[in-house]
Amino acid sequence: MLKEAESAWRTIRVDPEPSGFGAEITGLDLSRPLDKEQLAEVKAAWAAHAVVRFPDQPLSLEELEAFTLQIGAFGHDPFIKPMAGHPNVLELRREPDEKATNFGAGWHSDWSFQPQPPAGTILHAQVVPPVGGDTLFCDCARAYEALSPTMKRMLAALTAIHSAGRAYGTKGVFARETEARTMQIIVSEEADKTHPHPLVRTHPVTGRKALFVSPVYTVGIEGMTPKESAAVLGFLFQHMTQEGFVYRHRWAPNMLLMWDNRCTMHLAEGGYDGHLRVMHRTTVAGDTPV
Ligand code: SIN
Repeated sequence: MLKEAESAWRTIRVDPEPSGFGAEITGLDLSRPLDKEQLAEVKAAWAAHAVVRFPDQPLSLEELEAFTLQIGAFGHDPFIKPMAGHPNVLELRREPDEKATNFGAGWHSDWSFQPQPPAGTILHAQVVPPVGGDTLFCDCARAYEALSPTMKRMLAALTAIHSAGRAYGTKGVFARETEARTMQIIVSEEADKTHPHPLVRTHPVTGRKALFVSPVYTVGIEGMTPKESAAVLGFLFQHMTQEGFVYRHRWAPNMLLMWDNRCTMHLAEGGYDGHLRVMHRTTVAGDTPV
């Protein structure tokens, strides 16, 4: 494990996961504005580890918004009604008696169907169930780096097609849902639109390349038949989600987690029927993937 706590960081403590993917950051109070050096170090640790957790950070909604704005401008969250009086905060809430599938249960990178998908997502734990409810992340940069040179050359030329349709479209999962759901989802024709992105994108901060596809939002590959797309994407999804590339995040109340949508996919696990789970979520605006 890197000895980051002793060496590299001056204003924060960073304890990376053994793989380097994921890290815990302590030594900060996120309810107050960070000074210039703290903020630069938080951003550097985030770039280095992609998924960073900050334990024990009780924050009001206003403090969560203020922290988000230190990282970057708010992203645009479509298809879900935001919290009253807080247009940039979503409440991910599942009641103990709710039967609908938990939100975010398939592998995805947030809003990747947008022309400029969010660079990051910030999730702040309010109520954590005693069992289940972990969030899994896969390291799409390491998954890319593990491919053969021949596969990398083939993928370099490809453009993936993204759409929100399977989830939020007029014939999508939410449109067909029969069980009641607390979160207010807005099914829309807008969701059925498609948007192209390079299948391999380069991270604007680290310069690392990463696979930028997901089972929820990637619906095909330009110039390929549906069967060809399914074969290539099926291989990639299986490759990306193998255990060696996955970090399992376990929640505690008041924990804040910030992940990089440019080089990760994530999946929210269920397994907590009978228990309340509540999270507050913001997104940070991103660039056009290249
Ligand atoms: C999501 O933002 O996709 C859901 C993550 C979670 O609830 O753990």
